[in-house]
Amino acid sequence: MKKLVSAICAGLLLAACNHTNEPKNQDQKVNNIKQMEEHGKYLVDLMGCNDCHTGKIMTPNGPMIDTGMLLAGHPSAMPLPPFDQGTANNWVLFHMNGTAIKGPWGVSYAANLTPDTTGIGLWTETQFVRAMKHGDAKGIEGNRKLLPPMPWENYAKASDEDLHDIFMYLKSIKPVKNIVPQPTPPVPF
Ligand code: HEC
Repeated sequence: MKKLVSAICAGLLLAACNHTNEPKNQDQKVNNIKQMEEHGKYLVDLMGCNDCHTGKIMTPNGPMIDTGMLLAGHPSAMPLPPFDQGTANNWVLFHMNGTAIKGPWGVSYAANLTPDTTGIGLWTETQFVRAMKHGDAKGIEGNRKLLPPMPWENYAKASDEDLHDIFMYLKSIKPVKNIVPQPTPPVPF
């Protein structure tokens, strides 16, 4: 009986502890969301998402990210300049904007990751996690696998908490209307 009583007491204590961890009021909830978004931004910057998903502006100090197109993917109104097919089939070429890449797989265009409906605006977190962990396009099981150089196999190792915070950050940035072109298969040479 004594044991049972102390077990119940311990349970109550634990419940009380858990309770104190929960947001007490609206301000704290907002603070928690802000912290998650900030951590998400930190991870996005660190994991190099801008390298491919954000256009670049040439400056005297080299290419800088185009903040007006933050994470908006390859601009729809930016056709690719001509390139030599024979050479391109054996090399990987980056468009100078950093957002379109030609390789033996054809041409891939970095996706719009902003919360516009042309980006990930209508995506659920489950879809996002599926795309990052399994490389399924649009995060839908059975869809085609994401093409290089999207390094999803590296990101598959990220924790669910980290992916959650990245998703929170992406949903918080400025929505950019931009329909990214579909990838094209390699031209037989
Ligand atoms: C080295 C270039 C590169 C980097 C770095 C990169 N991506 Fe990508 N990403 C791409 C390309 C290219 C595609 C389009 C692939 C395709 O169409 O199959 C893509 C596609 C995606 C998709 C799928 C979009 C869709 O419509 O299915 C998501 C989600 C994504 N990237 C998120 C991220 C995030 C988040 C990061 C950083 C943690 C990141 N990417 C870093 C190149 C990159």
